[in-house]
Amino acid sequence: MLDRRSFLEKSALLSAMGFMPRALSAEELERELTGATLGTTPGFRGRPCVVSSANGIKGVKVAYDQIAGGTDTLDAIIAGVNLVELDPNDQSVGLGGLPNEEGVVQLDASCMHGPTRRAGAVGCLEEIATPSLVAKAVMDYTTHVLLVGAGAKKFATAMGFKTQNLLTEKSRQDWLRWKSRLNRNDNWLDHDDDVKINWTHGTINMNAVSAAGDVSSVTTTSGLAWKLDGRLGDSPIHGAGQYTDNAVGAAGSTGLGEMNIKTCGGFLTVEFMRNGATPEQAALKTLERMVHMTEPRLLDDRGRPRYDIQVYAVAKDGRYGGAGMYEGASFAVCDDTGPRLEKCAYLFKAADRAR
Ligand code: GLY
Repeated sequence: MLDRRSFLEKSALLSAMGFMPRALSAEELERELTGATLGTTPGFRGRPCVVSSANGIKGVKVAYDQIAGGTDTLDAIIAGVNLVELDPNDQSVGLGGLPNEEGVVQLDASCMHGPTRRAGAVGCLEEIATPSLVAKAVMDYTTHVLLVGAGAKKFATAMGFKTQNLLTEKSRQDWLRWKSRLNRNDNWLDHDDDVKINWTHGTINMNAVSAAGDVSSVTTTSGLAWKLDGRLGDSPIHGAGQYTDNAVGAAGSTGLGEMNIKTCGGFLTVEFMRNGATPEQAALKTLERMVHMTEPRLLDDRGRPRYDIQVYAVAKDGRYGGAGMYEGASFAVCDDTGPRLEKCAYLFKAADRAR
């Protein structure tokens, strides 16, 4: 495989030597430059598979059944994550997601469609329960790939999405408890109940491949609980929260988004697969890179990360894998043997978790 520069240098050299190479078709040129093929790969027969974070256990089955019935991979996985976005009891995504420090639910999502090599995303979107669908609308109806804040909401309402209050009573109560315990000297009474307050950067990432080898990915989240107003995590960032290359596969992640952004985790995992790693090996290598890129304040004195993150990946031929920084995480998968949770590979044993 030639890189673009070598290809151009080689072409110039051949011309200078008097060779007049046959003009390459667009598809041949693309294959020469990237090893990829344009769009759907003719004649490819693979094994359909959907892989996601563990909270997508119901969604992977919905997505798999749709793909088996001929639905496009991106439409199918968005239907899969919509289940979680619309579930008021999942406090990490969509309706019921934990709010920012001001009590406002701000949602991030992005998606990529392998066959058309198109992408869309929204960040800090308020009052729309299904940011994954708004991200796809950005992809389908605009020349942009990312809309944020008030502009994203304006776009969504113009496209017909309904606005609603996303802060459920449970999430509002959790936010007030968090707020009242911030400072012993403020005017909020600390209620010493033993209600556990979630501190989450939960998310759902889902990736799929069809029998024809078409690949897509989507990630959607309410982001880090109690975040500063305007914070974007990795989920709306292509190449971080998720990434698809139809020639290789797709990958995405859940966990501390800032670390994933610095490592370009989705892109890096796909690149490791392009270079021969299995999906699980690729996910583990990305986690190793994250540790390498971690700033000292997030490492303990033994160099162990004080955060968690998981990476999920599917290859064009239907192989899949998931890995977490620490032992104990699982991921959801559905293929022709049905939906199930599997244990993530990991870098560090649970007993060695940073304290
Ligand atoms: N991975 C989700 C977030 O950090 O926002």
